[in-house]
Amino acid sequence: MSKNVLIMAGDGIGPEIMAQAEAVLRFVNEDEGLGLEFEHALVGGASIDAAGVPLTEDALALAKSADAILFGAIGGPKWESLEIAIRPEKGLLRLRSELELFGNLRPAMLYPQLASASSLKPELVSGLDILIVRELTGGIYFGQPRGIRTLENGERQGYNTYVYSESEIIRIGRMAFEAAMKRGKKLCSVDKANVLEVTELWREIMTDLSKEYPEVELSHMYVDNAAMQLIRAPKQFDVMVTGNMFGDILSDAAAMLTGSIGMLPSASLDKDNKGMYEPCHGSAPDIAGKGLANPLATILSAAMMLRYSLGYGATADRLEAAVSKVLDLGYRTADICTDGSQKVSTAQMGEAVLNTVKSSS
Ligand code: IPM
Ligand code: MG
Repeated sequence: MSKNVLIMAGDGIGPEIMAQAEAVLRFVNEDEGLGLEFEHALVGGASIDAAGVPLTEDALALAKSADAILFGAIGGPKWESLEIAIRPEKGLLRLRSELELFGNLRPAMLYPQLASASSLKPELVSGLDILIVRELTGGIYFGQPRGIRTLENGERQGYNTYVYSESEIIRIGRMAFEAAMKRGKKLCSVDKANVLEVTELWREIMTDLSKEYPEVELSHMYVDNAAMQLIRAPKQFDVMVTGNMFGDILSDAAAMLTGSIGMLPSASLDKDNKGMYEPCHGSAPDIAGKGLANPLATILSAAMMLRYSLGYGATADRLEAAVSKVLDLGYRTADICTDGSQKVSTAQMGEAVLNTVKSSS
């Protein structure tokens, strides 16, 4: 039975990195007879330029009917002056929301070959393997009311609403506990329960849920401390679970511990494990079109897609092994090139992975 993969390359470096990931995916599809069918749709600034909106109804319909979505990156200075409601980012946020992709898995794993690319001392990061589980369809990103209003005294005021209902906290909590069960059985829930009632409820619910998972050691940490601990002693963490905005911030910090955000994939899942897969980095408009971008996060996102949404775990292993192998061989894009190793372009890195996949089975 065939399965549909929707490819949304987006803006900036999106199309360059996606071309490399798509070539690898197409090869394993043929080689292993996976029966994947590929479709493409515009999103973000590319869609604004072509159709006036960051996500068309047609593109949304394709995303809803696909079995999985591989997403590049969106945004850039060209669209920054647009009002917030029609900016490129809205296309991504609408996809997350309409597809109910509430569970965002962001692994931060250090490849031993890249220990010297981290801004922290090698002994602090060697062996690092953290999974951040970020709630993705609620919290202050989506809470109503929101906007900019004019007060009676004529002064303008911007406002957003930070809300989480019990059911939203329970479902992300379960996803995080389940993930912890498959890993080191340690879960740290990050909140600001000393100030914000919404996260007081978050903490209470995580504590209740932990009774269903007696094997998982649950801890709680305030977000400011969590940011500090990630930089001070990151290896104390196994799985972290947190709300949308804290997760956005902490996952960038965790990503950089590994040397480059250009290495990290992510999965955004619904309750049935249908998902959208995207590199953690953004569209990097400053380096777009120059062949400098690192395609590995997108290739690793394709691997996560094969594993979580398409049921091809062995193929995912094959791609991940190839990524590790090209690092062993010394291939480095500019972002991870710290020493005398071989600096390669986006396309050369993609080809190195493809050739490695071809020579493996
Ligand atoms: C991310 C990004 C997005 C977010 C932006 C592009 C809307 O920073 O996926 O982390 O804030 O969620
Ligand atoms: Mg972010």
